[in-house]
Amino acid sequence: MSEDTWGTVDAYILDNVVEEDSALRAALADSRAAGLPDIAVSAAHGKLLSLWAQTLGARRILEIGTLGGYSTIWLARALPHDGALISLEYEAKHAELARKNLARAGVAERVTIRVGAALDSLPVLAKESQGPFDLTFIDADKQNIPAYFDWARRLSRPGSLIIVDNVVRRGAVIDASTADAAVQGVRKLYASLKGDRRVSATAVQTVGSKGYDGFLVARVLEV
Ligand code: SAH
Ligand code: DHB
Ligand code: MG
Repeated sequence: MSEDTWGTVDAYILDNVVEEDSALRAALADSRAAGLPDIAVSAAHGKLLSLWAQTLGARRILEIGTLGGYSTIWLARALPHDGALISLEYEAKHAELARKNLARAGVAERVTIRVGAALDSLPVLAKESQGPFDLTFIDADKQNIPAYFDWARRLSRPGSLIIVDNVVRRGAVIDASTADAAVQGVRKLYASLKGDRRVSATAVQTVGSKGYDGFLVARVLEV
């Protein structure tokens, strides 16, 4: 089975059950035109994020890693009109484009992007009592994943969901001697979750238009 097949099957899935509208497609097209990396979640993954948020009845969502706001749009559309999403982004250029994409998608009022290193913004969110968040999507720099996860748990309530993207990395995650800081970050997350009774977690390997990777889902039992 080739990557071609994965992409073609993703297109088939989209064609049948995933509604990627013109605002979502334009967000990707304008991100590409502006030279942003092509690393947004797939449409199928974006829809899954929105189904989870709706199933949780999420009213407050935290995202770490906005890029052009593609996943942000999927998540924000799952919120009720008085719901709120805070997305953390390091690159001012990404945040600026994301704001345009979010406005076109009709969700700008529900979304606040905070520009800066997420590890600087997260303590501010805590100090401002912005939590608890019902759902947190972690999708920024991978070496900081363990610290992001710890903050996400602290900003949760029992029953909140934390989703971490890119936790398989083409299978690189099983290489204990890796020199790749991103893979090391992911491995440290798995190690820290081993025996952690405050969360109940699983990870699922995925193939599709974005290649071979996976996501981790954790239900917070105790903050
Ligand atoms: N969630 C997006 C993709 C995010 S890509 C989507 O699926 O559509 C990762 C983003 O994290 C990039 O925009 C990158 O600039 C940002 N990022 C990298 N390091 C960061 C940091 N330390 N703090 C906040 N954002 C960071
Ligand atoms: C990559 C992919 C991602 O989904 C991400 O969030 C960051 C990086 C990558 O393929 O390099
Ligand atoms: Mg990602």
